[in-house]
Amino acid sequence: MRRASRCRRSTPIRASSATRDGLPSDYFPSPYPNETAARAANNNALPPDLSLITKAREGGKDYVYSLLTGFRNPPANLPAELKPGTGLHYNPYFANLNLAMAPPLTKGQVTFADGTPSTVDQMAKDVTAFLVWTAEPKLVKRVQVGWATVLFLAMFSVLAYLSYRNIWADKKH
Ligand code: HEM
Repeated sequence: MRRASRCRRSTPIRASSATRDGLPSDYFPSPYPNETAARAANNNALPPDLSLITKAREGGKDYVYSLLTGFRNPPANLPAELKPGTGLHYNPYFANLNLAMAPPLTKGQVTFADGTPSTVDQMAKDVTAFLVWTAEPKLVKRVQVGWATVLFLAMFSVLAYLSYRNIWADKKH
């Protein structure tokens, strides 16, 4: 019986793709089949997974926003060894000044339903806000619960202190 089932495995397994509801712990699906393909398409640099990027980089959301809006021509007095090589783009917010990612946002790239001007600044703010959310979808709830807890503990401390005063009021100590 076992042998028969092993033999059957040699025929290709046709699996249909399965979907399920997303979980907060899911990563963004990569648009590339593997790392080699990703590097081949990006001047040998590996695009990072952005799910947790606002937590993974110093400066968090401010860094991501600055990076998205920081692409510019290199200053004329930049030393030759710091000038962007082929396929690299100057951005003073990136650690080594030149990164393999081309500016991903351009003016007018999207249309806002409410008529908000489609500027790079606006899109960078929106993308960054989204990435803050993906890095911690329950942040707002967590902060709210945190404040409620602190408030409760503060009130409890006052009550405890008043009880202490009351209990010891007529005792000599
Ligand atoms: C709005 C969309 C995008 C955002 C928010 C974004 C954000 C970022 C961030 C934060 C980094 C990390 C920089 C670091 O390591 O500190 C990065 C790197 C990179 N991104 Fe993007 N990216 C976007 C779109 C794209 C697109 C469309 C591509 C390619 C087609 C791309 C390719 C890359 C590559 C190759 C790197 C690595 C750069 C290097 O190490 O030199 N990104 N991106």
